Amino acid sequence: MAKILGIGNSVLDTIFTVLHYPKENEELRAQTRLFSTGGNINNTLYVLNQLGHQSSICTTVAADNEAKQLLLGLKNRNIDTTHIQRFIQGKTPNSFIILNKQNGQRTIVHYRDLPEVSFEHFAKIAIETFDWLHFEGRNVENLTGMLNIAKTFLTNQPISLEIEKPRKGIEALFNQANLLIFSHDYATQKGFKDGHALLSNIQQVAPNARIVCTWGEQGVWFADINQTIQHLHATPVNAIDTLGAGDTFNASLIHHLIHGETLDNAVQHANNLAGKKCTQIGLDNLLKITEHDTPIANIAQLSNAKTLVVQSEKKLYPIILIKHINGVKAYENNCPHQNVPLDEAYKIEVNPFEKTLKCSVHDAFFQIDDGVCIEGPCWNDSLTPVDILIDKNGDIYLSED
Ligand code: FRU
Repeated sequence: MAKILGIGNSVLDTIFTVLHYPKENEELRAQTRLFSTGGNINNTLYVLNQLGHQSSICTTVAADNEAKQLLLGLKNRNIDTTHIQRFIQGKTPNSFIILNKQNGQRTIVHYRDLPEVSFEHFAKIAIETFDWLHFEGRNVENLTGMLNIAKTFLTNQPISLEIEKPRKGIEALFNQANLLIFSHDYATQKGFKDGHALLSNIQQVAPNARIVCTWGEQGVWFADINQTIQHLHATPVNAIDTLGAGDTFNASLIHHLIHGETLDNAVQHANNLAGKKCTQIGLDNLLKITEHDTPIANIAQLSNAKTLVVQSEKKLYPIILIKHINGVKAYENNCPHQNVPLDEAYKIEVNPFEKTLKCSVHDAFFQIDDGVCIEGPCWNDSLTPVDILIDKNGDIYLSED
């Protein structure tokens, strides 16, 4: 679980579902009307919470009636609101969204008349208490100073920046972030024909950043620091609601990078979760279990004193399961020392007092809590965590994010 601070916009969305996209001057009846809190940062933080993190939002809120609705929405999403900046002047930002039932495409009309987060407000936040900072690429004037202090005062916390639209001066911020996430909108408006063209250009400007560019049905382009540009095709899905798919992608990407996975892996997971999002309405219960999933084990089979190793066709490595405090921990059965199963020579020994697991091959001891090796040949390396979900019957499933 990581503590994540998101800096950006919060919006009240009104979503009309329609049977077809209206023509100009047409009068059309909506099938459903939904009120929801939105805004890229808000959505990304909500998904990060569902992925097991603890998120906090730094955004601005007005003093009108809609602001109460917005704050209630943030509370329901379990997003910490301590770092919100309140304004007497201005109005709650609103989006009217037409969601076409035929293809899941969303058309957004956005209204805003509210100041953005000020530099002075941001500067008072104890940013060093967070594990990751995610910025929406807007409010460039103030973001410059914010990124500057974040870059200067933080040593271990990665900084990510989402660039959805071209904004005056935003390019100057690119070398301040560790992870840059571009939308195809930015790329096309800047005249790039695909993600490869954009990334080759950005690599010159931000040589020390990981770069990703999502391009809807054309998939994702990405490049790690000083690495060649790769392309991942989109998995075709039956889309019924694409609103927030990009925000979901960003959340999953951050989540997998926090877990120390490669960019390649993280992008694949993010792509899958964004695809899954498009097949459901809204962002609630994004990780819920579907009737097609099969459990990998049941909690009744587990104990705090011994591990259970199970196989799943969806994973390359078998999975180590163990009860821990009130939950269950799951790791790939692959020792980072020599890439061998922990139980290759003998069973995996568990010390319930020290709360460690031991690899039987060269006696590396891993903390059950976070998988970190605290003694042995791969000291400070970690076992790779596996995301799981447990239903009310205690059945354990792989969470496909
Ligand atoms: C979706 C979204 C909506 C919001 C709009 C703001 O990505 O964040 O929730 O209304 O975009 O541009």
